[in-house]
Amino acid sequence: MATDDQIRESQRAAWTQLSSGWRKWELAIMQQLGPVAESMIEQMGGGDGTRHLDIASGTGEPGLTFARRWPGSQVVLTDLVPEMLDIATQRAQVDGLTNVEAVVCSADALPFDDDSFDTISVRFGYMFFPDPARATAELRRVISPGGRLCAAVWTRPDENPWITVIMDAISAEVPTPPPAPDAPGIFRFAEPGSVGALFHQAALGDISEWDVGVQLVAPSPEQYWQMMGEHVSPAAVALAGMDEAARQRVRARTIAGLQAFDGSGAVRVPGVARCIVATK
Ligand SMILES: C[S@@+](CC[C@H](N)C(=O)[O-])C[C@H]1O[C@@H](n2cnc3c(N)ncnc32)[C@H](O)[C@@H]1O
Repeated sequence: MATDDQIRESQRAAWTQLSSGWRKWELAIMQQLGPVAESMIEQMGGGDGTRHLDIASGTGEPGLTFARRWPGSQVVLTDLVPEMLDIATQRAQVDGLTNVEAVVCSADALPFDDDSFDTISVRFGYMFFPDPARATAELRRVISPGGRLCAAVWTRPDENPWITVIMDAISAEVPTPPPAPDAPGIFRFAEPGSVGALFHQAALGDISEWDVGVQLVAPSPEQYWQMMGEHVSPAAVALAGMDEAARQRVRARTIAGLQAFDGSGAVRVPGVARCIVATK
């Protein structure tokens, strides 16, 4: 079994590599995931004066949406990977945001004092932490009493064709056994209540969860194929290990699999995220 340090290192390497894909496909990714950010912020609450911490921010969400909503708030974006946070910082500059700073760190070792933040968000980060219970304890430490923590994860694979279309096409070429249940992976917290249990263990209260539907829209099947291979880690890793002939077979299968989601040229592939909120 991989150690926590090995997991952190392999996540760092994977996301450093994917950062250019996240930059290239920013618009489509942000459109797909925007409803999740909106829903998290609505449930977490906030306002001018709120000190907000965004964990595993990647290219900046939902922290940047929070900062835009309340220009009088103070938002700290954090991530393990400087290349992802560089994109977030550039997005903040383009938007003229002056209430945002970025700090490179791991979710389980935060360089902040106890009780420093009023709200914390973690959108699609929990599944990659080496020790999610330790990370949750760390999040609890830095949030002030009465503060709100909100996370988002993916529900079951069958509810997320936006990724299973390509992953099924890859599995038909090279069998890809699912990762061990407690190893990092996109569907690690698909089970209802699994993040809530971590929150409960960390002595957070007032826990509730709800699902949010999303849709990945690509102008054409070809663009879906390119986008997925360049920003989704299990797809990118699997495709990198194939020769060109195998990649072309996977491409053909992916494009055939998209027929069910074809809508006048553009493809619209659905998915479901689960949000979980708690109070310290
Ligand atoms: C799917 S991206 C999510 C980015 C962003 N929150 C969003 O929803 O658009 C996952 C992010 O988790 C980060 N990550 C992985 N392991 C981490 C860790 N131990 N601590 C902090 N961030 C981590 C990655 O670098 C990556 O940027």
